[in-house]
Amino acid sequence: MDGFYDIHCHLIPGVDDGSESIEESLAALRQECEEGVRSVICTPHIAPGETDAADRQRKQFDLLKKALSSSDLCGKIELHIGNEIYGEAPAVQPLKDGLIHTLAAGHYVLVEFALAESFRHIEETFRSLLNNGYLPVAAHIERYECLREPDALAKLEELGVYFQVNTATVTGRLLSRETRWVRGLLREERIHFLGTDSHGTHYRPPRMREAAAWVEKHCGAEYAEKLLHKNPECVLRDEII
Ligand SMILES: [Fe+2]
Repeated sequence: MDGFYDIHCHLIPGVDDGSESIEESLAALRQECEEGVRSVICTPHIAPGETDAADRQRKQFDLLKKALSSSDLCGKIELHIGNEIYGEAPAVQPLKDGLIHTLAAGHYVLVEFALAESFRHIEETFRSLLNNGYLPVAAHIERYECLREPDALAKLEELGVYFQVNTATVTGRLLSRETRWVRGLLREERIHFLGTDSHGTHYRPPRMREAAAWVEKHCGAEYAEKLLHKNPECVLRDEII
């Protein structure tokens, strides 16, 4: 079952700690294609308060799209822009001002936090985004200690927050605490999105196929279809899951 979506990666060249050049971005997008991915939302890091980052990212994104269209990958993979928002400071006003990209220009926003962030701050950040009409997706939830507390995820679920995990965590070592936790959540059908969180060919190259195969083997067919296809399609169409 190909035709996957990658809603979290750092493949716009020269704008964050991801891909460093157009050549690296095209090589990573070729890998995405080989992994069965047909649609990618590029989500460079951004922190609320950065006033010119979104513009710069858009310009580099346009250059990448142009390079893609004159390469052999033309027509094989489609690109969209978004951001991975560092949720330390309030993001609502910069989002309203167009200083931060939502996912594929819709209402979904991808948000990460400091590893030791408190649950209280995470909850408040999501509440504020939801109250202002955004649809927040928590990036790589396996990283945050506070989300392992009893009922932490349930509270966010109740608010309406969506959860993304990294493909590399799904296929990680069985002894990895993160991998075991994430696989348990997938079996409970509580994850909404997979993302590669690829930073180019040099750091975490994009891998999708093996994680997708794990889901197809260990979770129900209906949930696999949602996770791998229907949910990311909702993001691109700007429809509520
Ligand atoms: Fe990321």
